[in-house]
Amino acid sequence: MQTILDIGLVPLIVLDDAAQAVPFGQALVAGGIPIAEVTFRTDACLDTIRAMAQHVPGLIVGAGTVHNVAQAEAAVRAGATFIVTPAFNPAVTEWCLRNHIDILPGTVSPADIEAANGMGIEVCKFFPAAAYGGVKTLKALAGPFGHMKFVPTGGVNYDNMLEYLDLPNVAAVGGSFMTPSAMVKNRQWADITATCQAAVDKLLG
Ligand code: 3PG
Repeated sequence: MQTILDIGLVPLIVLDDAAQAVPFGQALVAGGIPIAEVTFRTDACLDTIRAMAQHVPGLIVGAGTVHNVAQAEAAVRAGATFIVTPAFNPAVTEWCLRNHIDILPGTVSPADIEAANGMGIEVCKFFPAAAYGGVKTLKALAGPFGHMKFVPTGGVNYDNMLEYLDLPNVAAVGGSFMTPSAMVKNRQWADITATCQAAVDKLLG
């Protein structure tokens, strides 16, 4: 988990064709963001995880949009080293903790955060961030949940990423702004690399 947070950016991967997984992963690494959250939003998810984990040196590969334990198990078998859930899912969280797999559980409310923290979680995804009050809500959560850190996703972009990252309770930001779907569709890997580099440059100031 610490490596993920050290990078500070978690790009979302939605890929239809696993044959493109290696160039996609290489583009992320070349852009200075050696991490991929490969989502269960396409049938190519597991093959993409497998290809990236086996053939892209230096890339930390995880699975996102995980809704159940079966998906988490399959993703880890394919080579995923972390799991992200869109909502707080106690069964998936418990499975990950028991198997020593990094887990970023989705939360959006004090109730979710309390439940996750009760299981020992100290870093949660905050999704969908913009729709649920964004920076304002994260500031409000810092009072009662001062011991918790968040990874906001959902509406994070180049224009607002630093507003989020400047908050003391934000550990990293994630989303599709580093991997625009049109670039992925058109296999513009050099453009993805440039997009990632721009995010890193912004992060480092
Ligand atoms: C997620 O699953 O984290 C979100 O779908 C990302 O949302 P975005 O496309 O607004 O970045």
